[in-house]
Amino acid sequence: MSSLIEHPHPKERRIVFENAGKSDYTPDIENYLAHGGYVEARKAFTMTPEAIVNEVKASNLRGRGGAAFPTGVKWGFIRRDDGKPHYLCVNGDESEPGTFKDRYILHRDPHQLLEGMIITCFALNIHLAYIYVRCEYTHAKEIMEKAIQEARDRGFLGKNIFGTGFDLDVYFHEGAGAYICGEETSLLESLEGKRPYPRIKPPYFPAVLGLYMAPTIVNNVETICHVKHILRLGSAEYAAMGTPGDGGTRVLCVSGDVMKPGPYELAVGSVTLGELIFDICGGLRPGRSLKAVIPGGSSSKVLRANEIFKIKAKADDGTIIDKEVPLLDMVMDATSVAAAGSMIGSAGVIVMDDSRNMLWALNNLNQFYAHESCGQCTPCREGVLWMSKLSTRMIAEGTQESDSATLHNIADHIAGRTVCAFGEAASWPTQSFIDKFPEEFGVQIAHQ
Ligand SMILES: Cc1cc2nc3c(=O)[nH]c(=O)nc-3n(C[C@H](O)[C@H](O)[C@H](O)COP(=O)(O)O)c2cc1C
Repeated sequence: MSSLIEHPHPKERRIVFENAGKSDYTPDIENYLAHGGYVEARKAFTMTPEAIVNEVKASNLRGRGGAAFPTGVKWGFIRRDDGKPHYLCVNGDESEPGTFKDRYILHRDPHQLLEGMIITCFALNIHLAYIYVRCEYTHAKEIMEKAIQEARDRGFLGKNIFGTGFDLDVYFHEGAGAYICGEETSLLESLEGKRPYPRIKPPYFPAVLGLYMAPTIVNNVETICHVKHILRLGSAEYAAMGTPGDGGTRVLCVSGDVMKPGPYELAVGSVTLGELIFDICGGLRPGRSLKAVIPGGSSSKVLRANEIFKIKAKADDGTIIDKEVPLLDMVMDATSVAAAGSMIGSAGVIVMDDSRNMLWALNNLNQFYAHESCGQCTPCREGVLWMSKLSTRMIAEGTQESDSATLHNIADHIAGRTVCAFGEAASWPTQSFIDKFPEEFGVQIAHQ
């Protein structure tokens, strides 16, 4: 049974997962209404759109899709009265390895997402919204389309919703299953029926030139679900759950070598990495020790278990000093993970114990990125395939003295030289695996 359905750990703070975590909860509209569903959507229509945007700004909600961009600030880029059509595209591509939170929402609590979308669309004067989901989530289409129909039948979607005079249509769009379609501008190209090549930013910031070249908000599934709870709790209470500048709760998806992998919703910044692994996730397998952690989905930089990083801290006399922090004391929020040299990203925490071979693990990632490069930019198209071929050969035939330098060099020439951040996503694993575990990339005998 999934850790989500079991009793929550005392440190968990379930808001977005409140319904989804109940074993007897079914994703139909009657059940959602019986659990407080659509209360905040109705409330939104008693507020001014500006007041809703201000609440989201004050909540310090940051996007849960990977970039951790402040949601209220993003919404503030939309000018309601510019005379243009506006769109909302909910990003449910969830393609980052190690990330599996949006699937639970889509499958187990689809109306929560629809309610968040209604509030968002009213706040931003949007009358047409899409939910973009990868085709591998086979049940999501069936469940979401049923939920959309149920909401339409009740008058919560379509013309004159809730009798307010506001019109909103929502469509589910199934992607063909490509990692790059999670990148927001590729997602828009895909929605427009084109090959999903990322667009160049600037000028194609979606909030300015998005879907059909109109202002568009792209937000992650989890991000949109938080909006309901900001209106329910009020921005002050919501913000207070998290850290300054990073409010509320967020779902950490823990996978790999822990006894209880799964999605855990926690107040932002409320646990350290050590508490997450050894307390909440039940620790490692018997007899094993921690070797490495990838904290924010496979494209975030790997961290070595015994490393110590420095943060700026206030000393007793008020001066700012460098404080040394062991990795297991790293707080699981965007700022602290960045201070440790990686990123919280999509919060896919991949735990590796001492049974793991880092060259093998890197090769696994390299093969994924080589398969997923869209091919638009030469450094990425050629480079990730080259990295994959080289790490595969290192495993099959043994590592030559110059291999790790060559591998690192290829990664160095991809990152920062591509239209989208896939270049960094594909390069950071190689760079960080070699930097953090040089002894595993030296001369070796073949592993097979
Ligand atoms: C290569 C790549 C893949 C991405 N995949 C996803 C994804 O699967 N889901 C997602 O929500 N965001 C993904 N993102 C981030 C989106 O571009 C975008 O920042 C996000 O959807 C914005 O929503 P948020 O502000 O709510 O986080 C990806 C970014 C890159 C560069």
